[in-house]
Amino acid sequence: MPVPPQSRGNCVRSICTCAIRGLILWVLLTNIMLVLYCLTNSAHVKISCICFVKSPSEECSPKVDIMFVKTHKTASSTILNILFRFGEKHHLKFALPDGRNDFFYPSPFRCSQVKDYKPGDCFNIVCNHMRFDHREVAKLLPPDAVYMTILRDPADLFESSFHYYHRAVPLTWRIHGDNKLAAFLDSPETFYRPGAFNSFYLKNLLFFDFGLDNNVEADDPRVTRDIHNLSKHLDLVLIAEYFEESLILLKDTFCWSMEDILYFKLNVRKSSSVSRLTPELRARALQWNGADWKLYQHFNSTFWARVEAFGRERMKEEVTELRRRNAEMKAVCIEDGGAVEAQKIQDRRFLPWQPLGESSILSYNMRKNTDPTFRTICEKMLTPEIQYLSNLGVNLWLTRLWGWFKDTIFVL
Ligand SMILES: *[C@@H]1O[C@H](CO)[C@@H](O)[C@H](O)[C@H]1NC(C)=O
Ligand SMILES: *[C@@H]1O[C@H](CO)[C@@H](O)[C@H](O)[C@H]1NC(C)=O
Repeated sequence: MPVPPQSRGNCVRSICTCAIRGLILWVLLTNIMLVLYCLTNSAHVKISCICFVKSPSEECSPKVDIMFVKTHKTASSTILNILFRFGEKHHLKFALPDGRNDFFYPSPFRCSQVKDYKPGDCFNIVCNHMRFDHREVAKLLPPDAVYMTILRDPADLFESSFHYYHRAVPLTWRIHGDNKLAAFLDSPETFYRPGAFNSFYLKNLLFFDFGLDNNVEADDPRVTRDIHNLSKHLDLVLIAEYFEESLILLKDTFCWSMEDILYFKLNVRKSSSVSRLTPELRARALQWNGADWKLYQHFNSTFWARVEAFGRERMKEEVTELRRRNAEMKAVCIEDGGAVEAQKIQDRRFLPWQPLGESSILSYNMRKNTDPTFRTICEKMLTPEIQYLSNLGVNLWLTRLWGWFKDTIFVL
């Protein structure tokens, strides 16, 4: 039966409507899918922006996860002050010691020595005295944390350590005469025994601080191996003899600003108490601290290779700028034009910690008419380690007890 033209048209129209309906539905669904896809995608981009990807306008972002191996008698207190200020400015989390100003030095470092530590805790900065142990420290920090330290010429370091600690090393009590340092270096074997109480202060103290065997002889193959191993763990090694250049390299490596590295030298000895080493004594001190001497020479040469790569001329300019900015701060913050003896310090907040039986460490008086906008930064820059730790919330009862004991029982 022939289909009437009317209904044929109807049918054609209805096929068209179906197709159009289907098309609209398909377009709609595809659009919804596209929108959903875009949404999830943009959400994904946003998250990775916050957590992983640096925003493209910045050349680099400041390093905030830092392990500082604080060595003894190497200007490390000045670096500590810089790290404390940087950490406070950026609200970073310090792994702090508990009850005292170090992590139970000279015992090897253990996570459990950190104040309020719970397994799994993660920190930004670890910087107080410890006997370094890389694997133990790594538990506290993100995997991309930067490791740095500072070294000093081992002959001068030995002189300083001898001055600061010899009264705490019983082996030296039987050295007589005015120049105990010369007498010791004249025949160290007579006055030294490996493993005796506090004896590590008098031989290869850098090796000891890095958790290595400080009684190793310089020609022992372990020395080269240990230095090589250490260099794999340290991203930046500063040299105290080139302190300003060191800070410029720090600023460059960590992507910090000039303001972040301004400083006043802290924990400095008055020059009259520093023994000038004769060339002969210097040679003996280097021989006696042979492992440290190798360590120092190795990192001194990598340091200068780094300066070379940075650019000598650029380094000169940056050091000049750092000096200018430091001088500016000094004029703003410091009374009397520089460091003075402890008896002249008027404010207890700035009193330095003294070695046993001695009062040779200098400190600063803050200017009374300091511009109020600079007062806080001046105070922070002038605050010695112990008081700063206290301000950061460390209860230093053990350190204070020892301080009281040292100053009342041992006054000579
Ligand atoms: C290198 O150092 C790591 C961690 O400090 C240590 O576990 C390892 O035994 C060292 N290797 C050598 C060859 O000394
Ligand atoms: C450290 O390296 C510099 C540059 O190469 C050199 O002038 C200096 O003598 C070195 N210091 C020591 C103690 O080796």
